[in-house]
Amino acid sequence: MSKILITGAAGFIGSQLAHRLYQKKNEVVLVDDFSYGSEDNLIFDDIDFRETIHREDIRNLQAMDALFREENFDIVYHIAGITPLPDCQTNPVDAVDVNVRGTVIMLDMVRKYGVKKMIFASTSAVYENNTDFPSTEDHVEKPSLVYPSTKYTAEQYCRAYWDAYGIPVVVLRFANVYGPHIDCLRTQPPVMGYIIREYLSGNKPVLHSTGEQERDFIFVEDLIELAILVSGSDKYDTVNVSTGTTVSINTIAKLIAKEMDCEDRGIDYADTSHYWYRYPALYEKPYPINGKLLENEVLKYTCLSNAHAREVYGWTPKTPLEEGIKKTVEFCVRELKKAGVGK
Ligand SMILES: NC(=O)c1ccc[n+]([C@@H]2O[C@H](COP(=O)([O-])OP(=O)(O)OC[C@H]3O[C@@H](n4cnc5c(N)ncnc54)[C@H](O)[C@@H]3O)[C@@H](O)[C@H]2O)c1
Repeated sequence: MSKILITGAAGFIGSQLAHRLYQKKNEVVLVDDFSYGSEDNLIFDDIDFRETIHREDIRNLQAMDALFREENFDIVYHIAGITPLPDCQTNPVDAVDVNVRGTVIMLDMVRKYGVKKMIFASTSAVYENNTDFPSTEDHVEKPSLVYPSTKYTAEQYCRAYWDAYGIPVVVLRFANVYGPHIDCLRTQPPVMGYIIREYLSGNKPVLHSTGEQERDFIFVEDLIELAILVSGSDKYDTVNVSTGTTVSINTIAKLIAKEMDCEDRGIDYADTSHYWYRYPALYEKPYPINGKLLENEVLKYTCLSNAHAREVYGWTPKTPLEEGIKKTVEFCVRELKKAGVGK
């Protein structure tokens, strides 16, 4: 049994990870400031984390110092972060403060209190400017957008703490993650949450460009299995968390429609320039971003090699896409109905 801190534990991935680590008989300590995430994510059949979670900002130095001093952690899973691309783009100071400074605060607590290792949630978005596929861990073309830039910078500090203090950190670069607890309620949810919400509302989802953009989607339970395996590492490592295969957004939409019994509803298509239409701040003042960057983001192809995860950690993703989508639809429909969608 280990004593494990999970930051961002009210979020999609952090809550599922906390539950799995708890099921594996670890002592888990959860932190989240609820800037995203939800109380509902903390309720499981066998445990309710709502009472015990520390409702704190990871940037609160005093609170973090007291927590680390009291708890004597063996491992830290640093999952907290500001993730939505438009939020990072239109509020870069906060994005850097949470994603970069917040990570350095965690690293420094790990150093100060002799925690054995840290696992850091990074992203495949760091490969946004790569042109060679599948992307491998050893080659990143420097990113342009704020979100991946913060994560890439935070990765550098993880490396710096390994070089200077020998603190083992495993950086996990997640592909597009899907599964139960995905956020389907926020303004611009991840694509699967969006498509499910539109079908449940009686609408057609609007896909941008042709919908033939292909991405690498990883099911959250497969990700968690690898996140636990890498905690055996005693050195610095960077690991892609991916299937190494791609699927088009059209295929995703059709599989969701099939699962929700609304295949005859169809799909609408729109120009890429309107992708973030709910975020006028991205197009107008104060952050009139270079339109080409947004277009690249909408059209981007992602495919990450998982050879390193297979060879070093003996991991393979196991969940077939159809099964993962079924579980995602079940979760989102339940949550959306609770929130009054589709009534
Ligand atoms: N979901 C994906 O597809 C994906 C892909 C690549 C990387 N990631 C990374 O994985 C991590 C988790 O992603 P997610 O999808 O679960 O996001 P999420 O938004 O559901 O969870 C992040 C959690 O961090 C918390 N948080 C944010 N700032 C905080 C602060 N200052 N102090 C304490 N808590 C704070 C939020 O309240 C939220 O609950 C993120 O770091 C993200 O960048 C996610």
